[in-house]
Amino acid sequence: MVKVLGAYFCRMNWSDEIQNWYLQHKRNLPWRNTTNAYIIWLSEIILQQTRVEQGMPYFYRFLEKYPDVTAFAQASEDEVLKLWQGLGYYSRGRNMLFTARQILEDKQGIFPTTYAELIKLKGIGEYTAAAISSFAADEAKAVVDGNVYRVLARWFGMDEPINSPAGKKLFQQLADEVLDRNQPGQHNQAMMEFGAMLCKPKNPDCGICPVREACNAYQTSRINLLPVKLKNLKIRERYFNYFLITHQDQILLNKRSIDDIWANLYDLPLIETPNYTPIENLSSLPEFKSFFGDQTIVISTSPIRKHVLTHQRIFAHFIHLQVDQAQINLQHSWFYTSFNSLEKLAMPKIIDQFLKDFHHLHGIQAQLFI
Ligand code: ADE
Repeated sequence: MVKVLGAYFCRMNWSDEIQNWYLQHKRNLPWRNTTNAYIIWLSEIILQQTRVEQGMPYFYRFLEKYPDVTAFAQASEDEVLKLWQGLGYYSRGRNMLFTARQILEDKQGIFPTTYAELIKLKGIGEYTAAAISSFAADEAKAVVDGNVYRVLARWFGMDEPINSPAGKKLFQQLADEVLDRNQPGQHNQAMMEFGAMLCKPKNPDCGICPVREACNAYQTSRINLLPVKLKNLKIRERYFNYFLITHQDQILLNKRSIDDIWANLYDLPLIETPNYTPIENLSSLPEFKSFFGDQTIVISTSPIRKHVLTHQRIFAHFIHLQVDQAQINLQHSWFYTSFNSLEKLAMPKIIDQFLKDFHHLHGIQAQLFI
């Protein structure tokens, strides 16, 4: 037992209180009414970094299209990324496909339910392995997600940063200690739900909290100070100068490489610059000339659109360019496609939105956009 726990455990069975609250107040979420590990996996991966309301339609779309892991394994990567479009962190979708194929090949399509097997699969870390094994098979593994960190930090009054290596270890230890080993699945769901619905980041409902009497943060007026989180490292700012080039009813696209954000998604030919660069300066860059030649005409430029990612801020600038087709130096990742087939391709939200606005406002033959 962790030393700090003794004093608290004498007072009450904390997990029972949280589970009682859960049974009375839980939301009826579709992935809670099943022990099917595939369905639980689908929901858990979608819900990482995604709110329940935002994730729910994706969950239903995926389940309808791929009712089991075998169906998922037979999908193409483009198809999965397209269904994933808008959720962000696209490697989650790609890893799912990899894992589905591996389960079909190595495990005859039977989704594993033990922590030890799950943790070996791509895209499944400690949290997801604990969630699937406890929800699907009641294995005694404690989940620690953002909600659980907050609940534990407040209850125990822990000011160790939750995202430091020592903090992560400590909170996992605390979570293991409080786990109800008779009902680990329900305990885990209850902890997460309690954090999401009552012990919220801002304005938690301490007034109706069933465990506030023994809550360290409540008793010491530190609810708003806990949990402690180290600030993220510096956010990288990037300037993406995109070129919209059309030829007859086709548009020039780029398939993104595997080693950068939005891997394998589709965008437009791009020149990245270290800071904002007006088109006059862009067009004199050697890279610009080597791509498009020296006979280009700028039809129009867009205002800058900003897209915020976890560790990066993308500033995108769109330039509608008329080029001499004979002078274009087609890169291996570039290709022409019709406007009509754009809807089948997975694109970063910022590109999808830009093209929709462009198409909507001006049609394929558009000459101007602002
Ligand atoms: N977020 C992540 N997993 C969840 C779950 N099983 N229920 C509700 N929200 C969640």
